[in-house]
Amino acid sequence: MILPGSHSQSLSARLAAATDHRLGRVRYHEFPDGELCTAIDSLEDGETGALAGEEAVVVASTVSSDANLELLQLQDAAREAAADRVTTVIPYMGYARQDEAFKPGQPVSARALARAISTGTDRVILVSPHEPALADFFDVPCDTVSAASRLAEPLPEGLNDPVFVAPDEGAVDIAERARDAYGRGGADYFEKERDYDTGEVTVNPGSAEVADRDVVLVDDIVATGSTMSEAISALHNREVNRAYVVCVHPLLVGNARTKLEAAGLAGIWGTDTLERDVSDTSVAPLLAERL
Ligand code: R5P
Repeated sequence: MILPGSHSQSLSARLAAATDHRLGRVRYHEFPDGELCTAIDSLEDGETGALAGEEAVVVASTVSSDANLELLQLQDAAREAAADRVTTVIPYMGYARQDEAFKPGQPVSARALARAISTGTDRVILVSPHEPALADFFDVPCDTVSAASRLAEPLPEGLNDPVFVAPDEGAVDIAERARDAYGRGGADYFEKERDYDTGEVTVNPGSAEVADRDVVLVDDIVATGSTMSEAISALHNREVNRAYVVCVHPLLVGNARTKLEAAGLAGIWGTDTLERDVSDTSVAPLLAERL
């Protein structure tokens, strides 16, 4: 049975349709004191051991502290219902960018959460984690699925002499895979610097040749939109034709959309690891292959 976290309901339904797992109905309840109770609502009253002989697949993007708690509660509810095996799919793992202590005194938050999640599951599946090494933080087997090959799907056909550009060197692999999936074009990367105290981002296009070309900016996450809006502005300073953005996780917090539009965005698409209006591409087929 697939047990969706509240931020992964559409993807869970698609995953159920793509596999032979039932889609469980989950109730997201909050008590008056703010405590959460995330419960499998599709079990009959008094039914115990309802998942005996069955695998429970918790699918939960952890976009917030509450979402992390929902995930842990769903794992526990699955065990309580005597599931034979619990698999935890984390389409978007929050806190993943806190993967080291950047200053003395800081926690490695990603590791802390991975350890907690490991206690309630037999295995974990991550989609395009920020760093592949994130998988090592889990105490149970952890597979990663890359969504890079799907990012080109929504792009218009007939892009003009396209070049797929990562805003920093770390994302060049994902840009190359998106280019390969599109079938033609160049691949390049910019140099990015972020001031971690102010959050300010500067993007330097270096020697990338972008004038009169359609550029597809590719990254794993668009969060505040600072990276991409800086990159789009840098492209327009270099006489780019059109600037598109594709990403795996369209977090798009705060005024990210406004920043991107103001910078001169031609179009943005992401996947359904997060449920947003730009989540046009589903990762369900990729996950179905791993279940
Ligand atoms: C960072 O290394 C990531 O790949 C993204 O570039 C970053 O998280 C995007 O964040 P924002 O949209 O806030 O600039």
